[in-house]
Amino acid sequence: MKNMCLLAIAISLTSQAVWAQTPPAPLPKKDVFVADLIKQMTEAEKIGQLRLISIGPEMPREMIRKEIAAGHIGGTFNSISRDENRPMQDAAMRSRLKIPMFFAYDVIHGHRTIFPISLGLAASWDMDAIGLSGRVAAKEASDDSIDLTFAPMVDIARDPRWGRTSEGFGEDTYLVSRIAKVMVHAYQGVSPALPGNIMASVKHFALYGAVEGGRDYNTVDMSLTRMFQDYLPPYHAAIEAGSGGVMVALNSINGVPATSNMWLMQDLLRKEWGFKGVAVSDHGAIIELIKHGVAKDSREAAKLAIKAGIDMSMNDKAYGEELPGLLKSGEVPQSDLDNAVREVLGAKYDMGLFADPYVRIGKAEDDPVDVNAESRLHRAEAREVARKSLVLLKNQSETLPLKKQARIALVGPLAKAPIDMMGSWAAAGVPAQSVTVYDGMRNALGQQGTLTYARGANITDDQKIVDYLNFLNFDAPEVTNDPRPAQVMIDEAVKAAQQADVVVAVVGESRGMSHESSSRTDLDIPASQRALITALKATGKPLVLVLMNGRPLTIDLQQQQADAVLETWFSGTEGGNAIADVLFGDYNPSGKLPITFPRSVGQIPTYYSHLSIGRPFTPGKPGNYTSQYFDAPNTPLYPFGFGLSYTEFSVSPVSLSAKTLKPGAKLTASVTVKNTGKRDGETVVQLYLRDVTASMSRPVKELKNFQKIMLKAGEENVVQFSIDEDDLKFYNTQLKSVAEPGEFDVQIGLDSQNVQQNSFELL
Ligand code: BGC
Repeated sequence: MKNMCLLAIAISLTSQAVWAQTPPAPLPKKDVFVADLIKQMTEAEKIGQLRLISIGPEMPREMIRKEIAAGHIGGTFNSISRDENRPMQDAAMRSRLKIPMFFAYDVIHGHRTIFPISLGLAASWDMDAIGLSGRVAAKEASDDSIDLTFAPMVDIARDPRWGRTSEGFGEDTYLVSRIAKVMVHAYQGVSPALPGNIMASVKHFALYGAVEGGRDYNTVDMSLTRMFQDYLPPYHAAIEAGSGGVMVALNSINGVPATSNMWLMQDLLRKEWGFKGVAVSDHGAIIELIKHGVAKDSREAAKLAIKAGIDMSMNDKAYGEELPGLLKSGEVPQSDLDNAVREVLGAKYDMGLFADPYVRIGKAEDDPVDVNAESRLHRAEAREVARKSLVLLKNQSETLPLKKQARIALVGPLAKAPIDMMGSWAAAGVPAQSVTVYDGMRNALGQQGTLTYARGANITDDQKIVDYLNFLNFDAPEVTNDPRPAQVMIDEAVKAAQQADVVVAVVGESRGMSHESSSRTDLDIPASQRALITALKATGKPLVLVLMNGRPLTIDLQQQQADAVLETWFSGTEGGNAIADVLFGDYNPSGKLPITFPRSVGQIPTYYSHLSIGRPFTPGKPGNYTSQYFDAPNTPLYPFGFGLSYTEFSVSPVSLSAKTLKPGAKLTASVTVKNTGKRDGETVVQLYLRDVTASMSRPVKELKNFQKIMLKAGEENVVQFSIDEDDLKFYNTQLKSVAEPGEFDVQIGLDSQNVQQNSFELL
């Protein structure tokens, strides 16, 4: 495990999945092929191609197959095995024109092997590791006959009340844009036409992460400069990387729902960005135009959506039912229909389905006997990536790493929580296959030490919340409370603590608390668990908090009570082993926060790259008439980019290759980073820039680059960043991307706040 080399795994996956394959059989060029096919299609067949149907109890399989054979369905989602999808593809092959179906699924952070949630992946700041997670997911999904994923989800999230914060890569435009590219390349490989690869569809276009108050599905009202500067670049990066699809957001943007937004879908996406792929609505979004108050009925909703350029309608009936009438009356011209059909067929062409409709379904005799067979999982890769995603937030008096000979009390409702380990949107992951923290620690200890477990508390004792979380999940209740009185459970945990050398408490959220439709007004660890932590603290034993959660939590008191805090997000199938690797020091943590942790909900938003203001608060000076809250510190609890290691690093002052930069030229900023501690370790060296004076207020700093480096104990290395005019550009009030002459600060550090600074002038 320790010697595992990510690159070797990546290469072996790539070669198995991509390079060893022969290219698909030659077809006429896409445009010619698709145009020719469209000419042969009836209107009903064309409309059929625009329907994306969810496989579920509401539509019996037999009926779906009939509809497919009649040419009335273009693709499905949520059916995830070859033997489920083959009969549907067979039905498509019985249809008049034999247009293949595609099969989609939400493969967000793994398919059968579950990797850390996206926010955790981002915390690794390790593009190879993130790419590896995407490659494995693509390979596994493709092996299960999936052609397209509704991912990556690159919505910038700056309000952790929003439950889907867990599903994205955090608050920062630059980091999320880098990851967007990596994920698209990972899913699609050298071509989405090849088995082993799947097509990406970046979502949720656009700005879904900025919903008002963090309330899911709410409105977004945002200045154009902020949109272009901060929120749109990740989608653009995914499209530039070749994402074959785009999923359109459920929210409105400055009053116009994304699903009917001509400016967003036509002017920006198609014309300005030149997107040539398929645009899919989100679930039921077309019919929701009525509730948004922009369509009076489903007929008008269908008309608005197709005119805006929504090619496929996900699971609502509007296109199927309304387009025939709209075409007949001439309200929707044939050309609108043909445009949409062209994109759907074009995407199928790009997925390799016209060359071979069974490209991912394969032959029945090759179907896996057991889709969940252990041999189909990629545990080593999951463990390697998961341990990179863990962020050490506090480690007083070297409480961590734990000694394997120690007597350890392991407590908390999440210590043995296989479902929660996987996080939300866990695709085809099987809870029974996930390694809990308890399992992981047991595996690591073998015959050594003692590990005593006590649950200590329920996730929450608030029955209304338990009911809500269980209602959210259709398959089985996810949160099952221990019926014992809270005090009995606490007493048991305290007893275990008293008999131990150290206490590890695994606390936080259930996975459903950080999910779609799981917005919160309060980001505290639930009361039942807070009471447990307080009781454990009172024992005087060293206390380690292992946090599981899908968003920043407000843990000011709990981090004071604890001696060490390890943020583990929801870390996936191999999470427990990865966490044990860090707890026992078999892996030195290197993760960094991809999102700011506020002290309280009242501080939100706390993103680090806020604009400069006229009356900034200066730490150490009186706060009167400055921008702050007088009842709490102005700083967040943990800043963006923060994360500790079991070793220490120092960063030298920043040296610049020049004090001026000519347009078109480059300069180099360098620091010497030294591992001043006793262990080898990795850290992330972060480059921030500030445009000191410009034609409009600019952020106090913005991440512009980073490097994750490994240094042996005592080793030092020079880390260099090249800076050019592009790094200095921003969208001005005319929405032109410009670099304005003047002074720029260069800040380099190991988090966004603790930095070394120098400055130069752009001539
Ligand atoms: C979500 C999408 C998801 C879709 C299909 C919707 O509720 O907003 O992100 O891709 O469901 O599962």
